[in-house]
Amino acid sequence: MAKTLSDKLVALCAKRGVIFPSAEIYGGVAGFYDYGPVGVTLKNRIREFWRSEFIIKMENIYEIESAIILPRIVWEASGHVESFTDVLVECKKCHTRFRADHLIQDTLEIVTDGKTIEELAEIIETNNIRCPNCKGELTSASKFNLMFKTFIGATEKSENEAYLRPETAQAIFLDFRRIQQAMRASLPFGIAQIGRSYRNEISPRNFLFRLREFEHMEIEFFVHPAQKDAVPEDLWEKVKDLEVSILSIPLQEKEAPAERYKATDLFKQGIFSCKWLLYWTLISYDWLVRVGIDPTRMRIRQHMLNERAHYAADCWDIEFKYSFGWKELQGIADRTDYDLKRHAKYSGKNLNIHLTDENVKIVPHVIEPSSGLERIIQALLESTYIEEPERALFKFNPYIAPFQIAVFPLLRRDNLISIARNICDILRGENFLILYDEKGSIGRRYRRVDEIGVPFAITIDHQTLEDNTVTIRARDSMQQERYAIQELIDFFKTHLKFT
Ligand code: GAP
Repeated sequence: MAKTLSDKLVALCAKRGVIFPSAEIYGGVAGFYDYGPVGVTLKNRIREFWRSEFIIKMENIYEIESAIILPRIVWEASGHVESFTDVLVECKKCHTRFRADHLIQDTLEIVTDGKTIEELAEIIETNNIRCPNCKGELTSASKFNLMFKTFIGATEKSENEAYLRPETAQAIFLDFRRIQQAMRASLPFGIAQIGRSYRNEISPRNFLFRLREFEHMEIEFFVHPAQKDAVPEDLWEKVKDLEVSILSIPLQEKEAPAERYKATDLFKQGIFSCKWLLYWTLISYDWLVRVGIDPTRMRIRQHMLNERAHYAADCWDIEFKYSFGWKELQGIADRTDYDLKRHAKYSGKNLNIHLTDENVKIVPHVIEPSSGLERIIQALLESTYIEEPERALFKFNPYIAPFQIAVFPLLRRDNLISIARNICDILRGENFLILYDEKGSIGRRYRRVDEIGVPFAITIDHQTLEDNTVTIRARDSMQQERYAIQELIDFFKTHLKFT
């Protein structure tokens, strides 16, 4: 059977030590992946690009790093203990557990987003869906909470119960007051957090798409409830000319395809609940395109009323057409004042802001762009992977590529090696990410670095000994040009900078 794109990516990533199953020598654990040197660097590059655009370059976004394990009360307040569930069914014969909506989607090829437990149970019964492994009968549907539970301290008493966070967002609400006061922040402002989240998914699958441990990059952006359309001109300027594919609730109700919209029309027609939600959706979309994700495979879909999270007044997903279908890449939600009010109620602490100008106390509303690094990596791998007759390669943007420059002495001769190592030192001194390799044929070395998307390779050859020039080979065109060694820093500064 022909290999799917997903199978090829899994195999290539394992072969090159980019990303591979955790505890692999024991057979691996579903939903957990380890990153090798190339994967770590790729992940770092994407994370730093996010940090650069959404924190460093923005005046009023403050980054925190919070605890991962938090006591049960936090998750009761947030609603996760009650509502962060999926519906599962179990085979009575082989005892395999399935996520009911996935089982239905796979068997009947229908959409099940937003269906209640009763509706899912009815579909399973009416269609007599059975265990796909052994054809056994299924149990009735039940709710399964996706949070990993643990206990803090030496005794497993209920008052010591705690959970690994399923999102980084909640700690932002817990720290809201302290950060707002410490940074003397006034509305609107955001608090960002990047870090691991944990979800005990019933059926992790599709490589990096649905994991049990993944990395969130989230911003909770606090706005005045009466000023949810007050996006400053300089920020709106950055997104106002974007054109995007939109799948609104009315279009989904008609089962119509996505339609192209200009940013300004989206605002004028009031398709989003507020302008801040629209701004964060568009700026997130633009960032994803700049990372290198194929815009022709992206659309922005509004959540139907029955699929909205318990906290959201409006919610949109930036979806990507993965090799296994259109799926959520990033979510952007209007969380209103739900979280701050719930934590204020459960903690008994004041989580409002005193606006001295108006002399009123208000609880801010929250717009939340929330993305998962692994889904971005998977969409990027799928967007940039190319197969040519003689090679496979990733066409990563030079400023995202895990390694930027490969350095190869043509032959393993001392005089070529010492120049090559000297060039590595010079370029590393400029913070370029260098991969040095002196083993094997030059053709194979080029193929190997193409497979991990290195945009440029320098080769030191006999002519270098005569005139101090080297060749620079461009990954995409495979063209080689000669440059003097003293021109290298300028060349790479021009070709590898963020755009
Ligand atoms: N704080 C809101 C929140 O967590 P979400 O839609 O559940 O919302 C946001 O998750 C993003 O996190 C998703 O768009 C996706 O990129 C990523 N994500 C969620 N669950 C994931 C999983 N099981 N594996 C990998 N990434 C996941």
